[in-house]
Amino acid sequence: MEKKILFPQIGGLVHGGDYNPEQWLDRPDILEEDIRMMKKAGINSATLGVFSWSMYEPAEGEFHFEWLESIIDNLYQNGIYTVLATPSGARPAWLDEAYPEAMRVDRMGMRNHHGVRHNHCPSSPIYREKVAILDRKLAERFGSHPGVVMYHISNEFGGECFCPHCVRRFQEYLAEKFDRDIDKLNAAWWTAFWSHRYNSFEQIEPPFANGETSVMGLNLEWKRFTTWNTNDFMKWEIETLRSVTPDIPVTANLMRLYNGLDYRKMAPALDAVSWDNYPLFHNNEETLGETFGETAFQHAVMRSLKRDTPFMMMESAPGLVNWQPFNKLRRPGVHKLACLQAVACGSDTVQYFQWRKGRGSFEQYHGAVVDHLGTDDTRVFREVEEVGELLKKIAPAAGTIVRTRAALLFDWDNRWAIQDVKALSQSKKKYEETCIDIWREFLKLGIDMDVVGSDEDLSRYDLVIAPMLYLLQPGTAQNLKAFVERGGQLMATYFTGYVDADQLCYLGGFPGDGLKELFGVISEEIDTLYPTDRNGIAFENGEKWEVADYAEVLRVQDARVLGTYTEDYYRGGAAVTCKEYGKGKAYYVAARTSAAQMLPLFQSMLADAGIPARQLPEGVEYHVRSGEEGVYEFYLNCTGEPAAVSEVNGFDLVSETEVRDTLHLPGCGAAVVRLQTK
Ligand code: GLA
Ligand code: ZN
Repeated sequence: MEKKILFPQIGGLVHGGDYNPEQWLDRPDILEEDIRMMKKAGINSATLGVFSWSMYEPAEGEFHFEWLESIIDNLYQNGIYTVLATPSGARPAWLDEAYPEAMRVDRMGMRNHHGVRHNHCPSSPIYREKVAILDRKLAERFGSHPGVVMYHISNEFGGECFCPHCVRRFQEYLAEKFDRDIDKLNAAWWTAFWSHRYNSFEQIEPPFANGETSVMGLNLEWKRFTTWNTNDFMKWEIETLRSVTPDIPVTANLMRLYNGLDYRKMAPALDAVSWDNYPLFHNNEETLGETFGETAFQHAVMRSLKRDTPFMMMESAPGLVNWQPFNKLRRPGVHKLACLQAVACGSDTVQYFQWRKGRGSFEQYHGAVVDHLGTDDTRVFREVEEVGELLKKIAPAAGTIVRTRAALLFDWDNRWAIQDVKALSQSKKKYEETCIDIWREFLKLGIDMDVVGSDEDLSRYDLVIAPMLYLLQPGTAQNLKAFVERGGQLMATYFTGYVDADQLCYLGGFPGDGLKELFGVISEEIDTLYPTDRNGIAFENGEKWEVADYAEVLRVQDARVLGTYTEDYYRGGAAVTCKEYGKGKAYYVAARTSAAQMLPLFQSMLADAGIPARQLPEGVEYHVRSGEEGVYEFYLNCTGEPAAVSEVNGFDLVSETEVRDTLHLPGCGAAVVRLQTK
């Protein structure tokens, strides 16, 4: 097993964050204090220049990098490496004044005014040109600096642009996709409906809010195009940097299950995936353990974008943020646990937004390592310092990865199609929640599933859960069949295989594209329940599940019926089935039930797959990283109460003690147990 350390210069785990010295250039005393305090907190990396364009280029063509050079030098001399960002996420006023086309156009067709950030047009040739000039200069000036370890492209790519450049590119993208044959597009989009036939690609507009929003194929292609175009912009930046410094790795900071971009299409262009993690800790709807569990899912999504490389937690808030509905402080101990969780899930970095709170503007009250108080004598600073210590202790785990034999399928195309479909209940589609609930149920059994696309290689998995796989990519059905045939355990649910990648319904019975042979069932009707409606599923062994929201009426062809409906006109009809297919089993769960009720089914699937489940106290998470350096078991007690975990043996790097049989953890405590390996 090869060890893949992201940053050989740094050697172990990265501890750092966004640093904005450009806000403090008139305070050399503060900049000096920063270095002293960074060293005290065990900081070994700083992310610079995320929003520095107007400092680099205060007027068109006039460049100033001296200030950055002295900061990078100084950090480096003090053992702190730089993640250097490109500043394309926000534009200086002169640029928008001279080139208004750089500003985005909204869904109503209105051009933005200058201001805020993340609102450039990704198609604008002049914007691309200006970005490339600056990126090239940054690479030329700093690319050979020994302190620069990575490029961070732009910031949190997102949003859409409806400007004339983007519309033209969309038309060209469609023409290419449909072989320049407008009738192919008409067929794929079913445009005979409502007389929506197009004569040419030039007639096609994106889904303006006051325009064409009723063609499912168009809506979905626009989403795909937005990913394609954003990716194209990102690659343009990456290629510009690579043309000067081909060996510096690149990343772009992604966001929590961001809806607007299919990250799976963007990940291949990145050397490492990084993301910004801001959980809503201590909210009034979930237990702390549930919030941690949801965060673990988010980590798994990011980790699975590049399964064989550690990812990066590029941003996180050590104290609080300023944009959540309630900006609650992280309670003592929670920050440390959250940082350890990131590492447990496969991150090689713990990075913050931000190092020091600014004095003014939008983020002046956003948490930071260093408060307006300005000292290292604060609760938050001390906790960050503890994280610094901890990361040094567990540094041997750097470069190892999470390997799992179980996966949950989650697709952006499917997500967009479900959001858009005019069916079911508009308020109870809950695709993401359904996926997260099931994923968390497996985590309770100690199974840290990967989260992968439906057309991805499944050969490393023995168990796959595919909730609500409404849209099938070309190849998905064959992929799933091959998986089960060679012995895989597969579970699908209601609302599977209704449409193809153009969102055209399959004829001849759902699930389509041959999946009805795999599951041995046809879904004839889907019933949407009102919240007060009740139904249930009864099993032969006396088990009963409650049904909510959706119930499909099945025709069983050649599957075993495990559970049947208890109410309504479809009472007694099949609700849960299993078909043995090749060496594996394909389960179909035709109704929505809580993930917790499905636990016995999950356990039996795990047993058949030969994947050992763990007995864990409630709220204790278990993750494993492994590599040539060894095997590391992470135990995180995501509750305020002490917990004891049985069957733990090895050396705990956190407490620096040997654990035999039982691991005792205080509330919010954690252990990283290195296993004895030959
Ligand atoms: C995002 C951005 C940062 C900052 C933080 C605040 O993650 O990338 O620049 O605004 O949010 O939480
Ligand atoms: Zn545009």
